[in-house]
Amino acid sequence: MSKTSKELSIEAIKDKITKLSLTGALKPNSLKDEPEGIKSDGRSVDHSRVMMTKVILPNHSDTRGYVFGGQILSWIDVVASIAARRHSETSCVTRSVDAVHFLRPIHVGDIVVLKANVNRSWKTSMEVGVRVEREIPFTGKREFCCHAYLTFIALRVNKDSTCPTVVPKVIPASPAEIRRFEAAEGRRQSRFSQAQQPDSMQQLREKIQKLNAFDPVYESLELYGTDEKAMLSSYGEMIELVLPQHANTLQITFGGQIMEWMEYCAVICALRLSRSYILTAG
Ligand SMILES: CC(C)(COP(=O)(O)OP(=O)(O)OC[C@H]1O[C@@H](n2cnc3c(N)ncnc32)[C@H](O)[C@@H]1OP(=O)(O)O)[C@@H](O)C(=O)NCCC(=O)NCCS
Repeated sequence: MSKTSKELSIEAIKDKITKLSLTGALKPNSLKDEPEGIKSDGRSVDHSRVMMTKVILPNHSDTRGYVFGGQILSWIDVVASIAARRHSETSCVTRSVDAVHFLRPIHVGDIVVLKANVNRSWKTSMEVGVRVEREIPFTGKREFCCHAYLTFIALRVNKDSTCPTVVPKVIPASPAEIRRFEAAEGRRQSRFSQAQQPDSMQQLREKIQKLNAFDPVYESLELYGTDEKAMLSSYGEMIELVLPQHANTLQITFGGQIMEWMEYCAVICALRLSRSYILTAG
């Protein structure tokens, strides 16, 4: 009897899992690294799956009723941290967030659905994928708005300090989960290579610091080129006091909170430069 396409796809999944096991990608982490109380056996992707639903209110939005990108980034971080915590069953912190591109504006009154799960884990880190959809409340129609990949580190809390700790492996099952699992390794390598090229960022930072020392009483804008003038005229600065509501149970500020403040400050700079309405693209 010939096999159905469903049976064949299950065969293909089993084959993939066997191949991944042979490469060591699905092997449990070494037991000697395993701290007391943390299991290093595998977990399904479903184990970490989280869905969060929010309604956009005026306090999440700009003067035209479009949600601030930083608000979405903050929710992305919250939903992703829950997924990381479910997978690792310990406290986690955000280590990095890959570029996020906002493809559609989200308006006051819209419902936002955020879905997250751990795609892959390594020794102490996990990649969490988040998908954000906008739901139009009167029709129920959903539109894809953006996705994000975040890296979380699991932490073990000692008496006076915290340090990274071993996390369980992810056992992908469906074709989509296997695809994301395999692609995660490539993304991790690009994160490392990007983190190793801080030169241009450092140069830009030094340039901005130098421009911050600009004193209009003694210096003239005429002395500066177009780029410098743009930097000077759009310069913005914010000071925030970190309060308990901005931090997790380890009193570490949420990465999403930092991103929210960053976006808010960037909006001020972009408004100053453009002198027109703006939307954050990414
Ligand atoms: C998380 C933290 C404790 C890790 O310390 P660290 O000295 O970087 O630790 P390590 O170098 O051992 O790296 C830990 C993990 O991060 C991974 N990592 C390092 N650089 C990375 C990068 N750019 N992107 C993603 N993962 C990275 C490492 O590979 C390692 O994971 P692995 O064990 O699975 O291979 C430390 O970076 C920290 O406290 N960061 C601040 C976190 C925070 O406060 N977040 C909220 C925002 S304010």
